Amino acid sequence: MNSYPSLEEKVVLVTGAGKGIGRAIAERFATAGCHVAVNDVDAALVDETVTAINQTGTGSAMAAVADVSDSAAVGSMIEAIMAAHGRLDVVVNNAGIVSPMLHFFEADEAWWRRIIDVNLTGHFLVSHPAARIMAKQGGGCIINMSSGGATRAHRSFTAYDATKGGIEALTRAMAIDLAPYNIRVNALMPGSIDTNNHGDEYRRRSGENIPLGTVGEPSDMTGAALFLASDDASYITGDIIKIDGGMLAQQRSATVDIKPPSEFPKVEDL
Ligand SMILES: NC(=O)c1ccc[n+]([C@@H]2O[C@H](COP(=O)([O-])OP(=O)(O)OC[C@H]3O[C@@H](n4cnc5c(N)ncnc54)[C@H](O)[C@@H]3O)[C@@H](O)[C@H]2O)c1
Repeated sequence: MNSYPSLEEKVVLVTGAGKGIGRAIAERFATAGCHVAVNDVDAALVDETVTAINQTGTGSAMAAVADVSDSAAVGSMIEAIMAAHGRLDVVVNNAGIVSPMLHFFEADEAWWRRIIDVNLTGHFLVSHPAARIMAKQGGGCIINMSSGGATRAHRSFTAYDATKGGIEALTRAMAIDLAPYNIRVNALMPGSIDTNNHGDEYRRRSGENIPLGTVGEPSDMTGAALFLASDDASYITGDIIKIDGGMLAQQRSATVDIKPPSEFPKVEDL
C-alpha cells in the first residue's frame, strides 16, 4: 500500500542520489509512484540507481548527471527534467562531500572553497531555478540535508560543519522567503548513517555512543523525506528534523557516562 498517495506522479529531483542516503531516498520516492530525476556527479552511479528504480516497475527514474556546484550544468539538468516531465514538485538537496578530513592547520583555501561550493552553494544553485518553477506551478517542497555538525562540531571537519550550519540557516531563510509562494523548505539532519562501509568494528564503536544502540542505515532517512514532501506535512516549513537515534539529545556518550545503560534496571526486574 502507498502510505503517501499525495505523492503519486510527483516529479522529484534528488541530488547525490548515486549512492548512500540520496539513493535510498530516490528509491523510496519511486515506490510512492513518483518520477525521480536521479542526480549525481558520477554518471556510472546514476546509471545504477536509475536502472534499479526502473526495474521495480513503480514510479520511474531518469538520469540527471551534473555537478551541483556548476550552475551551467545545473541549469541544463533542470531544463532536461522540465523537457521530460513539464514540472518539478520536490527537490532533495542531498549531494555533499566530507573528505578529505583535514585538521584546521592542515587545511587550505582550495579545500575550504570546494566543500563550500558543493555542500552550501550547491543547495543554492539547485534550489534557485527549481523554486521559480515551483512558484509558477503554485507550490512545491525543498528538503535540504544538514548534519549533526551544524550544532556539534566534528574534529577535522571545519569546512563541512560550516556548510551544515549554513544549510540550517539557509533552510530557515528560504522557508520564509518562499512561504508566500506555497513552497515549503525543511531540512533533514542525519546522525551517523552507515553509507561508506567503515566495517563492523566502526559500527560497533559508533553504536555504543548512540542512545538507540546502533548506527543508522540509508533507509532510516527515507520516511522523514517522504513525510516532509507529502500533504501530511503541509503546515511544516523552516524545520530541521533530526534522524540520529538520539545522538544529539544526549549530554555524554554512553561509554563515558556515570550511569551507563548497562547499569539501567533490567526489564525482568520491573
Ligand atoms: N552518512 C552520514 O552519516 C551523514 C551524516 C550527516 C549528514 N550526511 C549528509 O547526507 C548527505 C549524503 O551523505 P551520504 O553519506 O549518503 O554520502 P555518500 O558519499 O555516500 O554519497 C554522496 C553522493 O553525492 C555525490 N556527489 C558528491 N559531490 C557531488 C556534486 N558536486 N554534485 C552531485 N553529486 C555529488 C557523490 O558522488 C555520492 O554519490 C550529505 O549531504 C552528507 O553531508 C550524511
